[in-house]
Amino acid sequence: MSASGDERQTNTQLDVTEATSEAVSEEAQTLANLRREAEALSERLREADYAYYVLDSPTISDAEYDGLMRDLRALEAAHPELITPDSPTQRVSGEPAAGFKKFRHLTPMLSLANVRTPEELIAWRDRAQSILPEAVFTYVGEPKIDGLSMNLVYRNGALEVGATRGNGEVGENVTANVRTVRDIPARLRSHDDAPIPTLVEVRGEIYMLRADFEALNERLADEAKAAGTEPKLFANARNSAAGSLRQKDPRLTARRPLSFLAYQIASIEGAPEPESQWEALGWLRAWGFHVSELATQLATLEDAQRFADHIAQTRFEVPFDIDGAVIKIDARWQQQELGVVARDPRWGIAYKFAPIEANTKLLDIVVTVGRTGALIPNARLAPVQIGGVTVSNATLFNADEVARKDLRIGDTVVVQRHGDVIPGVVKALIELRDGSEQPWSFPTECPICHTPVVRNEDEKVTYCPNLACPGRRLEGLQHFVSRGAMDIQGMGEMIVLRLVTAGLVRDPADIYALTFDNLLALPGFQAKSATNLLSAIEASKEQPFARVLFGLGIRYVGEKAAETLAGVFPDADALLDASEEQIAALPGIGPRIAQSVFQWAHDDENRALVGRLRAAGLTLTAPADGAPSTDGLPFSGESFLLTGSLERLTRGQAEEAIRALGGKIATAVSKSLSHLIVGAAPGSKLAKAEKLGVPIHDEDWLVEQLQANNAMPDERRRTR
Ligand code: IVH
Repeated sequence: MSASGDERQTNTQLDVTEATSEAVSEEAQTLANLRREAEALSERLREADYAYYVLDSPTISDAEYDGLMRDLRALEAAHPELITPDSPTQRVSGEPAAGFKKFRHLTPMLSLANVRTPEELIAWRDRAQSILPEAVFTYVGEPKIDGLSMNLVYRNGALEVGATRGNGEVGENVTANVRTVRDIPARLRSHDDAPIPTLVEVRGEIYMLRADFEALNERLADEAKAAGTEPKLFANARNSAAGSLRQKDPRLTARRPLSFLAYQIASIEGAPEPESQWEALGWLRAWGFHVSELATQLATLEDAQRFADHIAQTRFEVPFDIDGAVIKIDARWQQQELGVVARDPRWGIAYKFAPIEANTKLLDIVVTVGRTGALIPNARLAPVQIGGVTVSNATLFNADEVARKDLRIGDTVVVQRHGDVIPGVVKALIELRDGSEQPWSFPTECPICHTPVVRNEDEKVTYCPNLACPGRRLEGLQHFVSRGAMDIQGMGEMIVLRLVTAGLVRDPADIYALTFDNLLALPGFQAKSATNLLSAIEASKEQPFARVLFGLGIRYVGEKAAETLAGVFPDADALLDASEEQIAALPGIGPRIAQSVFQWAHDDENRALVGRLRAAGLTLTAPADGAPSTDGLPFSGESFLLTGSLERLTRGQAEEAIRALGGKIATAVSKSLSHLIVGAAPGSKLAKAEKLGVPIHDEDWLVEQLQANNAMPDERRRTR
């Protein structure tokens, strides 16, 4: 730059016009030089990033890297016109976004059907073979990474858009956040074997290494401790990746250790198409992406089965979460010929892992009281690691389950975990008994209030009938304040327990009578936390009628029934005065729910409670102007129906999440139904949907949709 300074001095000797034009061209010259300088710095930084993040073998020291970055920043600060979106300084930039814009994928983002057994894998291949009888298939095996699928659009080699999957057609544009992910190249590397296309859609998975996830949770815990707040920790690496990618402020995303693995070229222009999946993976590597080192070419289906077994056996040695193997037919022409059914291409299949099991000792069976008075037996287990998680409790559901499995205290039991789901006791290993095991029988009294328990003949569940049982009340209150109901932020289980123990709260209406002084007198409360809780309580008065109804914990009234009731009865009084027949006639409300609501409504204490809640200012009337608009939401205009039991989320959670994304919950299978979601042991709805040609999906499909839209609940809500 000193040279250009010298030249400028000589300009003063020239005449004015000449000087001006000379200065302009000189300025252009200088700028061109500076641009080259910036480009050279950028290039060195990109190389260093690639070596560090993708090849895992740094080529320069941290100090050198920082020096280059400083130089580039200084240059760009002096000449902002030099800044390009793919400059290494721009990984973290931009202001917090108000919300993410929608992005229509150039080609739809599909999902994969699942298999779980060798027979199902063979059936998948046979199906493909029946379509291409002459073809000889070879395959590529890859790990199925448990993260979020991502679509990256590169134009002339530069990253233009990063978008979440959304509903497969339209996702969210999260480019600013994606730019912060270190192993997503801002610009494709040029390579002799893989020319840079004018346009390419690269698909892959954003995920978090387990170690990074653990370190992040530790950091969040430390930060919360320092700030004197409750830490908000992530349940697992996938949620943590999803939460991090969703940050409205890219500077926050940049502080989260996100990683990316590329696995698909979805569309390409201005360059030849790869002829096989294997070739595509090679090109992705050449362009500078991380591609799984576990990806393998497989000559036969037997090799594919062995590959899936190998991935299952070594899944915990891999430093990130994987939830299966993906087997893909390799040849591109075969993929194209095979096409797509519903949303699943026939050329690929997800081979899901079998649930993981471990043996441990049954130490005790403890009965807890649910909010409806249901008494639930829970197994206390000797802590055991199952798939990287320590398990020491498992629900035993009801008395029949314990009896059927003949579980005895001291038994060695088999415990199973399916993915994130609450663990279950499969069976006792009777052959390992030594005679010291103690049979267990269901208590005849409520363990909390000692009222004799009741069990209706046609029900599996045993109840504590005492409406005033403190155990019931506590659970009931916890349900009332929970996220699906009144969602009173900051009112966690411990706080409810403290309020109940202090005698301040016996029922939901008492919550609205709490004062600042009440709270301040409780251990752990300070002025700020008391004020915050009071304003959260105040805010909950805005929750719609359906939420209040659900929160009241009337037996059998889940979120859906509460919505139906709130949609039909204009206010709480109309509901309290309705006849049992009137209630039973509503869609989706059977005689069992009707009877329960009717009984609840004719209990004096409950009627008084409704009066007190109304006096406190809660919303006990239906919204005047119908349902809120769902325009623009990913599931808008689509209807869903669930059948069978889900594993990874409760039905209430699934329906809540679907509705949150603008979808409708249908009450029966019809031709116009958009999606049937099938869980374990589905009912007759499945056969009907098959007959009518309704698109059918499994739970994993739904979970993927929810994850892609950041609508997946953090953990399965306790079912009680
Ligand atoms: S290929 C047609 N390969 O699993 C879909 N997907 O339902 C092409 N996933 O949404 C996807 N690892 O998010 C493919 N090696 C892999 C994968 C993978 C994880 C996810 C992806 C997709 C879902 C399949």
